[in-house]
Amino acid sequence: MTIQETKDYRDKNEISLQLFAFLVRSSDSCHIIRCKMLMLSSQLIFVTLFFFASLTIQAKEVELTRMISDIEKQQSTPGRKQNAIAMGKERAVLCNQCHGVDGNSRKKGVPNLAEQNPVYLLDQIEKFADGRRKNYVMNALSKNFTRDDKENLAIFYASMKVNVTKTNTRLAKKGQPIYKALCGSCHGEKGAGQANYARLAGQQIHYIETTLRQFRDNSKNKSKVIKRRSVIMEPIANGLSDDDIKSLAAYLAQLK
Ligand code: HEC
Ligand code: HEC
Repeated sequence: MTIQETKDYRDKNEISLQLFAFLVRSSDSCHIIRCKMLMLSSQLIFVTLFFFASLTIQAKEVELTRMISDIEKQQSTPGRKQNAIAMGKERAVLCNQCHGVDGNSRKKGVPNLAEQNPVYLLDQIEKFADGRRKNYVMNALSKNFTRDDKENLAIFYASMKVNVTKTNTRLAKKGQPIYKALCGSCHGEKGAGQANYARLAGQQIHYIETTLRQFRDNSKNKSKVIKRRSVIMEPIANGLSDDDIKSLAAYLAQLK
């Protein structure tokens, strides 16, 4: 859950509160006993649902705040940061084969981890570990790490430099205005992202394409297997054509 997602939930709750007030008003103006009972029971169901929804939001907000402060703590002095990087590098031995020794992917479809935001990396490793995001190898590997291991891995990869690739200039030019209009507000003007919003600049072209198609297929209920959900990305990807996706990926993969 990101800060934006939390805000979206809050907005939804605002609407819920108004609906609740409407139910109370209707029940006051309702004089037949059956009608009154119906209104009262809807109010009761409403209050219960609202209570549980608030608990979930609070838990997710706490979790994100904890991740941010953990990562900050691990990097609070140059010594601590170097230590975290060294420990992360040690744990990354199993990852090198696919993600590269410096976090630059060595295989088609495997994302670059170099220069990615550490909070985003940590959140994704947690999602693989508890099964919210699905990938056979990633699920198996993530389960065996302690919280410290996950944080150190995230800090290690974030400290590496991403290698930008050359892409089709015509497509990249087409992707730029789409990116500026639809994506820059969260992923940053230059694609560097922030906290839990992924860095996209320099990401693998093939990975960006597949990921956007996955989000789009989920939103249209077309995915055979759902590997990953995002309440924010799915409606955004819903409106993208194949051509938009290709252009966006070509633009982002070459972006420094
Ligand atoms: C066999 C290849 C393989 C190995 C080994 C591997 N990964 Fe991955 N990793 C992948 C693939 C493929 C994905 C993309 C999964 C998807 O989206 O379907 C991925 C995704 C990720 C992501 C999410 C990145 C993003 O941009 O969302 C993180 C973080 C990650 N891996 C970390 C690790 C770490 C840490 C290790 C070592 C402990 C590791 N991986 C080992 C193949 C691998
Ligand atoms: C309202 C904020 C917001 C906007 C606008 C937005 N994104 Fe995202 N994006 C996110 C969040 C949050 C995630 C992480 C989702 C998750 O938790 O898995 C994400 C994830 C992604 C990923 C996966 C990154 C990775 O490393 O796996 C891609 C690719 C992506 N967005 C592309 C785009 C593109 C292209 C656009 C514009 C068409 C866009 N996004 C617009 C918030 C946004």
